[in-house]
Amino acid sequence: MTTYEMQQEIIRLKKENNICILVHAYQSHDIWEVADFVGDSFGLTQQAAKSDAETVIMCGVRFMAETVKMLSPQKRVLLSHPEAGCPMAEQMDREMILKLREKMPEYKVVAYINTTSELKTVCDVCVTSSSAVKIIRALPYDKILFIPDCNLGDWVKKQVPEKEIELVQGGCPTHARITAKEAQAAKAAHPDALLLVHPECRPEVTALADYAGSTTGIMSYAEKSDAKEFIIGTENSIVQHLQMSCPEKRFYALSKDCVCHNMKLTTLGDVYDCVLGRGGQEIQMDPKLIADARRCIDEMLAYGG
Ligand code: 13P
Ligand code: SF4
Repeated sequence: MTTYEMQQEIIRLKKENNICILVHAYQSHDIWEVADFVGDSFGLTQQAAKSDAETVIMCGVRFMAETVKMLSPQKRVLLSHPEAGCPMAEQMDREMILKLREKMPEYKVVAYINTTSELKTVCDVCVTSSSAVKIIRALPYDKILFIPDCNLGDWVKKQVPEKEIELVQGGCPTHARITAKEAQAAKAAHPDALLLVHPECRPEVTALADYAGSTTGIMSYAEKSDAKEFIIGTENSIVQHLQMSCPEKRFYALSKDCVCHNMKLTTLGDVYDCVLGRGGQEIQMDPKLIADARRCIDEMLAYGG
C-alpha cells in the first residue's frame, strides 16, 4: 500500500465509522492530510467540545486526548500513540500545588493546559498559549499563581502588568533548549528574516523575537506577513508546514534541536491502525476525575471562547 492509498483508506474508514481525527500542528504533513481539524491546543479543545463523532482520534500527546475525553465522556477517545506524553504535563503533582495553595491562600491557580488531569483538579482555570493573555486579563481576580511553564508565565506577566502573577519553575524541555545565542546567530545568518517564536521559549529568546504566539499564531503571522523570510522558534515541523503552505517564502529553523520526540511518535500507520480499531490507546477516566478536572477547562472555554 502506498502512503496515498493508506490516506485514502483512513479517510474512507473515518467517514464510514463516524470517526473524527484531530491533529496538533506539530504532527507530520501526511497526518495533517487526513485530519478533520488541525490546530493549536486551544483550537483542538474547541473542536473537541463541538464534534458529534462517536470516536475521536487525537494525534498529539496524552493531555490533549484527556481533554477531549473530559469534554465528551460518552465518546470513545483514542490517543494516536500510547507513549506520546508531554514531559511538562508531568512536572508537578497535586500535592505540590495543594501545599502552594496553603502557603498562598489569596492566589488563584491558573494552569497551562499542558498538565495532567489529576493536576487540573486542584487548579482554578486552564489557559493555552493562544488564550492565556486574554483569559488572565478577563479573570475576576488579581493574584495568580501560574503553573507549570515559567517561560509562558513570564511572557503573560509582561503583557498583563496590572495583575500580580507568581511563577513556579517548570516548562517545555523542547522549547527551553533554545538559547539566546542561537537566536542571535540565526538573526545574523538571516538578517532579512523575521524571528517568530513560541512563548514556551526562554524570556531572553522571546525578547529578541518580532512575534511570539502559539503554533497557529506563528503560522498565520507568517502566512499573512509581507516579509519573505522567517526564522521559526518552535517545533521544527512548523518549518516544514510553512514551507509547504508558502512556497515563495523561506523558513529557517531557529534550532536544529527544537524537536518534540513525543509529538514525533505518531506515524500515519498508527492513525491507520486507530481507524481499523487495532491501534492507539483508548482513554479511560474515572467519572469523578472527569468532573473535578473538567471544571477548569469549562472556565477556560467560557473566558476564552
Ligand atoms: P500550542 O498548541 O498552544 O501552540 O502549544 C504548543 C505545544 O507545545 C503543545 O504541546
Ligand atoms: Fe510538551 Fe513541549 Fe512537546 Fe508540547 S512541545 S508536547 S509542551 S514537550
